[in-house]
Amino acid sequence: MEETLTPAERAKRIAGQHVAAMVENGMRLGLGTGSTAAWAIRALGHRVREEGLHVVGVPTSYAAERLARAEGIPLVTLDDVDVLDLAFDGADEVSPTLDVIKGRGAAHTREKVVAAQARRFVILVDESKLVERLGTRWPVPVEVLPMAATPVMRTLERLGAVPVLRMGQGKDGPVVTDQGFWIIDARFPNGIDDPQALAIKLSTLPGVLDHGLFLDMVTDVLVGQADGHVRHLKKSAGARQ
Ligand code: A5P
Repeated sequence: MEETLTPAERAKRIAGQHVAAMVENGMRLGLGTGSTAAWAIRALGHRVREEGLHVVGVPTSYAAERLARAEGIPLVTLDDVDVLDLAFDGADEVSPTLDVIKGRGAAHTREKVVAAQARRFVILVDESKLVERLGTRWPVPVEVLPMAATPVMRTLERLGAVPVLRMGQGKDGPVVTDQGFWIIDARFPNGIDDPQALAIKLSTLPGVLDHGLFLDMVTDVLVGQADGHVRHLKKSAGARQ
């Protein structure tokens, strides 16, 4: 296994293992989606089985739910817990102010709902995700009601984006999210000038369920490195308590 992992996968794994080690007995957790969060879920499952660690988790997607179940992590819903002690998740881009773009896996809507309930929202990445300006490498995913896709794409063009309807793999036609919606990837050729203004605009478009800009939500970023080190970036004072 060790030899088959790329340096990027080793970096993601160490970030995942690091957050799993931060978890304490009795914690209520948000379980993220994607290849990096999956390492954390696996490491957490190991602690549950080997140490008898007691935690409950709220999954952010069917993918996270299935993996957590297979790992033996007890699952609950947001009906069962009023607050989460910690939520962890991956990201596609992380800015110097710890704002992020998420949603490569089309799970950002549930991820945002779960993260918003958490006292601590920990992002797990490798170095390749750190950017100076949001939108320079990844598009902003926008989850839309299928009948609203065309008008939303027109609006995105007026906002300076190049919108593309995300197509499925292993399925003909568009990606259909866990909610039954579609995903438009909005690429901004020169990056995003004003993420706050864009986030507000996207949130108010009729037919948009949610977008992949997570602003002022992240409290910690764990940057894994292939050599086994982890850099811990913390949001300065003013981060959510
Ligand atoms: C899921 O929709 C996403 O938000 C992922 O958390 C994000 O794209 C990071 O994924 P990786 O850890 O696989 O890069």
